[in-house]
This record gives sequence, structure tokens and C-alpha cells, in this order.
Amino acid sequence: MSQSPSPLPRSAFTRRGFLAATATATAAGVAATACSGDAEPVQRPPGVPMGPYTKKSTATEVLGEVDLSGRTALVTGVTSGLGLESMRVLAARGARVLGTGRTLEKARAACASVGAGCVPLELELESLESVRACAQAVIALGLPLDILMCNAGIMALPELEQVNGLEKQFAVNHLGHFLLVNRLLGAVQAAPQGRVVVVSSSAYKWAPPEGIEFDNLSGARDYTPNKAYGQSKTANGLFSLELARRLAGTRATSNSINPGPVDTNLSRHYPAWQRRVMGLIAGFFIKPVEVGAATQCYVAAHPAVAGVSGHYFEDCNPVIPGGQMTNAALAQQLWEKSAALCGVYLT
Ligand SMILES: NC(=O)c1ccc[n+]([C@@H]2O[C@H](COP(=O)([O-])OP(=O)(O)OC[C@H]3O[C@@H](n4cnc5c(N)ncnc54)[C@H](OP(=O)(O)O)[C@@H]3O)[C@@H](O)[C@H]2O)c1
Repeated sequence: MSQSPSPLPRSAFTRRGFLAATATATAAGVAATACSGDAEPVQRPPGVPMGPYTKKSTATEVLGEVDLSGRTALVTGVTSGLGLESMRVLAARGARVLGTGRTLEKARAACASVGAGCVPLELELESLESVRACAQAVIALGLPLDILMCNAGIMALPELEQVNGLEKQFAVNHLGHFLLVNRLLGAVQAAPQGRVVVVSSSAYKWAPPEGIEFDNLSGARDYTPNKAYGQSKTANGLFSLELARRLAGTRATSNSINPGPVDTNLSRHYPAWQRRVMGLIAGFFIKPVEVGAATQCYVAAHPAVAGVSGHYFEDCNPVIPGGQMTNAALAQQLWEKSAALCGVYLT
């Protein structure tokens, strides 16, 4: 039998490989839909201002006229991708940026690459101990936090990995940030208009129909990489929603965002052949990182959205997300479960 001329490895033609390829195509399809907005009419929340920026705007353009001198931002995951670009642009507008990396060395290198005004911090989100220590280091600085950008994340781990009995994407993408924000809420509320921005994703659409499988947070039952990632990104949206409810009546706000499909290291856990497939089909709509970081920088710092809270943004504008992303009762349930999982680390 002659060799297949396909660039894909033989594993792509096994049942498992086929399913993975389908997931990859679905991933790209979801991302394309989120980016183009062509497939479904975009629903806008009433009363939230539309800005002049689009899916092509860069973070630098979005904050072009905004003076952030005297402001402090904390950005998680500044060692690559959207976090590094967000830190670069916020610092360029004059903000002091506390940039976190999984080790102090990595955070230092990232901060040094941006320059003055960036302060490196160690934060390993899978360790509640590390999250608490990071929050204590921030509080020790004695600065109000104008911006708290929950950006760090991992995607689609090929096999089930657990942290303290929890599926790792839920633990890192959601629970670590939940604890960090809760421990830093006093600093956010001390700012004139503190903003929490949680980086979610249109991949919330991959979550199970009920949004969060509270009876399967370990992931032990039927683990699939994309579903687990989708659940963690749904958790990001729900956390931001419930936080906004709890912040109502204060100056502080909370919103979640979808950056759209962006060329970063996020797909590092996909097998190489899957990344090649993704590259082939995604090449027409994927955003460079300078554009990808625009929405989170807009929501974090643009005056047009001062006081706006409890919403979800894509392409620098508010959108009503689907799935379970607006389920207020689920958001409250997730908060209570997350608080219980953090236990003594929260107090
Ligand atoms: N890129 C996209 O297309 C896209 C689309 C939708 C949503 N997003 C979201 O955007 C956010 C940023 O992702 P990205 O695309 O910029 O990916 P990226 O280039 O892989 O950057 C992820 C960042 O998170 C850090 N990180 C990973 N695991 C961590 C942990 N356990 N503790 C602390 N930090 C950790 C990484 O540090 P190390 O480098 O040291 O691991 C890195 O700094 C994520 O929340 C992602 O879900 C991205």
C-alpha cells in the first residue's frame, strides 16, 4: 500500500485522531464565527455604550488618547501573548504595571522587555498558596489597583491533569483568579474606579450544556480537552457576572471579554499536526497579538466604559453571550462553590 500524500500523520486517521481533528476544526469554526460575527446576528446589551473600535483595532489605537499616569494595573500571565502585549500598551500609556509570571525570573524577563514602570511578581495560579502570597505582595505595596486583568490561562490539555483533585483548566483559569481577585478586592475598591477584567473566550460554547459540571469538577468522568477548556471559560464569564452583582453600588466594576482568535502560545498543548491544521484553516481570520489585546485593554482603561459592569465584550464592543454565560443563579452557585474550594485561603 502506498503512503498517504496527506501532511497529516497516521494518527489523524484513527478514530481518536479524527475526533481531535474535528475538535480542531470546530475550534477554528467557533473562533471564526466569534471573529466575523457573520453566522449569528450579534445581540447587544441595551444601555451599554458602543465604541468606535472594531475587530481590526490594535490595543495601542484603542488607548491612543488615554493617559494612565498615576494608575496601577495588575496583569496576570505577562510572559507571553495577550498578557505581554497588554502590559506593554498599559505601560506605554503611563500605568505602573504589576506583571505576573509563574516564576519571578520569567516575570522579571517579561517586565524588563517592556521597560520602566513594570513590576514583576510571582504567581502560579494552580497553587492557592502562591496566589495568596502574590496578593499579599501586592497589598504590601499599598497601592490602589485601578485595573486587575485576569488574563493568564491554559487551553485544552490533551490528557486529564488535576490540581488538588480539580481539573487543571478549571483550577488555573478560574479558581486561581477567583482567589486572587477576592484577596485584592480591597485594593480594587480603593481606586477611584477600579476595574476587574476577566479574559474569557467564545470557547464558552464548548462547555457542557449545564455550563459547569459541579458533580465532575475533577474531570474524571469523560474528560475531553475542549469541553474542560470551555467550562473554565464559562466559569470566567460567570465569575465576572457575579462579581459585578456584588460590586453594584460601589465605584468598582467587573466585565469579561473574548479576545477572539489570536496568534499566541495558547495552543501549545495541541499536538503539532493539530496546530498545523489550525494554522491552515485559521490563517484568514486569526488576529495578531497587537489586535488581540485590544478588547481587554479597552475594557480595562477606556473612559467610554467607566462604570459599565456585568457585561461581556468582543471586538471592543459589548455583546450578549449565549450558553450559560448570563445565568445569574449559576454564577452565584459557582461563587459559593469556588469560595468553599478556596477554604482558608480566602480568609
Ligand atoms: N489566543 C487566543 O486565541 C485566545 C482566544 C480566546 C481567549 N484567550 C484567552 O486569553 C488569555 C491569554 O492567553 P494567550 O492567548 O495570551 O496565551 P499564552 O501566550 O499561552 O499566554 C498565557 C499566559 O498564561 C500564563 N500561565 C499559564 N499557566 C499558568 C499558571 N498555572 N499560573 C500562572 N500563569 C500561567 C503563561 O505563562 P507561561 O508562559 O509561563 O506558561 C502565559 O504568561 C487566556 O486566558 C486564554 O484563555 C486566548
